[in-house]
Amino acid sequence: MLEVARIRGGNPIKGSLRASGSKNSALPILAAALLTHETVTLHNVPNLSDVRFMVEILKHQGAKIENPKKGTWTITAEEITHRTPYDLVRKMRASVCLLGALVGRLRQAEMALPGGCIIGIRPIDLHLKGLETLNCIVEVESGVIKVNAEQARGENVFMGGPMGSTVTGTANIIMAATLTPGLTRIESAALEPEISDLCSLLNKMGAKISGHGTPLITIEGVEKLHGCEHTIISDRIETGTYLVAAAITGGDLTVTHCNPQHLTAFLEKLKEVGVNIETSEDTIRAFGQPTQAVEIITEPYPGFPTDLQAQFMALQLKVPGRSTFTEKIYPSRFMHAAELQRMGAEIAIEGSTAAVYGDRPLSGAPVMASDLRASAALILAALAATGETWVQRLYHLDRGYEQFEERLRNLGADIERLPSSAMPKGFAEE
Ligand code: EPU
Repeated sequence: MLEVARIRGGNPIKGSLRASGSKNSALPILAAALLTHETVTLHNVPNLSDVRFMVEILKHQGAKIENPKKGTWTITAEEITHRTPYDLVRKMRASVCLLGALVGRLRQAEMALPGGCIIGIRPIDLHLKGLETLNCIVEVESGVIKVNAEQARGENVFMGGPMGSTVTGTANIIMAATLTPGLTRIESAALEPEISDLCSLLNKMGAKISGHGTPLITIEGVEKLHGCEHTIISDRIETGTYLVAAAITGGDLTVTHCNPQHLTAFLEKLKEVGVNIETSEDTIRAFGQPTQAVEIITEPYPGFPTDLQAQFMALQLKVPGRSTFTEKIYPSRFMHAAELQRMGAEIAIEGSTAAVYGDRPLSGAPVMASDLRASAALILAALAATGETWVQRLYHLDRGYEQFEERLRNLGADIERLPSSAMPKGFAEE
């Protein structure tokens, strides 16, 4: 059944909220559990459709998986297969992070090549080049990647590309290198906190990784990894999204159990536009409304995250003047702009820059979510619009936000999830 969100704007978002575990940490970490025969127990795993899907893929690979309580999963991968078919990979691009785990554990992998997606073409050339540098034989034939790692040895691997370092590519090489003989040095490694979280899990499993969180990661291959218990870090993008919800509605929200240090660039921009921010070691409070236009350039961590670009664009619709958003990660990630325009926004796109002319009246409209972060941005704009907004294709939202509308409702929003048949006549997609 197709579902939609109906939002009636105007209510301030107020109160406090506990951050969930990070989606983009959980996905490679679930894959990393395949690197050992023993049981890996993970806590703070978010309940998202992407996570449930990754669990399905791990089951397909042969792992035994249990979910003894909310947020806790145990994975035991005694016997696994090296093959991952297209009908699994195409449903979730992030399934590519299995590649490094299979290469490490089985010395071979055969996986359908993931396609692009709405936010860009998203090649994986750097992943494959990295594996080749580790002396793997890599072939791509009829849409399938075949990796033979029998002769793999540690080497110097460079993970930088035209858009900066690759996050999942770095994760793949790290996973493969943990069980590859010799010393691997990853240069221009991704600095994202999710990479450090993966490395701390792997070190608990017996890997010898140092330098994570810096551009030079060193991995000394070991013969075997073992089980462990690990708690996933909080989701910085989810936290940022809720802080924008507070700011766009002139509310007052405290997010608890989060890590403000993972959001420095984003919080600086919130302050620059005039939102009040208070932080403690693991809480962030945002209150007050934005008043200033801003220039945002998305960059790899620790720069401003592309995954918060759409939400910040929604925020700047409220502010007089011209704000600009330049995408340096996904040059065409502006699908949300056209839908925001349907609500009254004035946005001009030239190349990889979107210019927002703010303070135009926003009014509710039926809009279509195109991807995960775009769907969040549309809901945020709807919270600040007059009248009723209907956001369609909610399944994008469910990939990365746990109980988004329920949690917003608890903070004061007028938002409901309804079957698409509840939409006014002529609005629902067929
Ligand atoms: N790139 C290449 N070649 C490669 C790999 C990447 O040219 O071999 C390019 C990409 O096309 C892109 C840039 O490099 O322009 C960065 O891509 P990266 O590989 O770092 O992205 P990813 O690992 O596929 C992760 C997140 C994304 C997030 C990006 C950037 C996961 C599962 N996904 O993707 O999250 O946008 O890093 O920070 O960790 C999201 O959560 O909404 C999301 C899309």
